[in-house]
Amino acid sequence: MLISVDAGNLWNAARAGLLGKVDSPEIQANIPAHLRDPESRWVGLTVRARTIMYNTKKVKPEELSTYEALADPKWKGRLCLRSSTHIYNQSLLATMIKRQGEAKAESIVKGWVANNPTLIQGDTKVLEAVAAGQCDAALTNTYYLGRIIAKDAAFPVAAFWANQQTTGTHVNISGAGVTTHAKNRAEAIKLIEFLTSPDAQQMFADSNFEYPANPQAGVNPLIAGWGKFKQDDTNIAAAGEFQAAATRLADRAGYK
Ligand SMILES: [Fe+2]
Repeated sequence: MLISVDAGNLWNAARAGLLGKVDSPEIQANIPAHLRDPESRWVGLTVRARTIMYNTKKVKPEELSTYEALADPKWKGRLCLRSSTHIYNQSLLATMIKRQGEAKAESIVKGWVANNPTLIQGDTKVLEAVAAGQCDAALTNTYYLGRIIAKDAAFPVAAFWANQQTTGTHVNISGAGVTTHAKNRAEAIKLIEFLTSPDAQQMFADSNFEYPANPQAGVNPLIAGWGKFKQDDTNIAAAGEFQAAATRLADRAGYK
């Protein structure tokens, strides 16, 4: 088996011929279609939402709406972003390209760049910068906030579900596939079937404050308080398909 974070990584492994097609009605029933390879070579095991984070002392949730709206000049000097070279942001931009087209995605990213964001390496460091008041809003995966809040309930940062009235919040996966030359192929498929079942899903997502990929599984109580949210249901294969385009777009927009 290959297990990895980010659909971009799984997509690249599949394209390189490292993963074999798995025809399992059980896996297909357990995991929604947008979190699975359309050619059945990999499947999501957890959902990781990448959304807007804000300093609760400086920003009201009513001031927030979409990824696009962070390009508004009112956010000038107030944003922290992780570098565009990290795969989480490449995947975010790749799905924006798939969803909105390259021209629209580029104008959004140019808007972010025009707001002079502080670029920081690492989602945890981004959240710490928001908490310290170095910036007011940011984009990170939500489980990083879960990890911090588990230790410090008073941490002054909250998650805002982006694009709920429009395309939904960007989600990525950690996932798995069976290697092309697996010696124990039947057992590997059984293991993935188990890992996508509601009980295993709950354990898996729980351990890292991620969301289960199987919608029948419950979420960790700590993050349940953040509420339900609408996921962007663009097939996450877009993270791989448009990865190179996303890198070029970030380059053109001056997003380092
Ligand atoms: Fe991560």
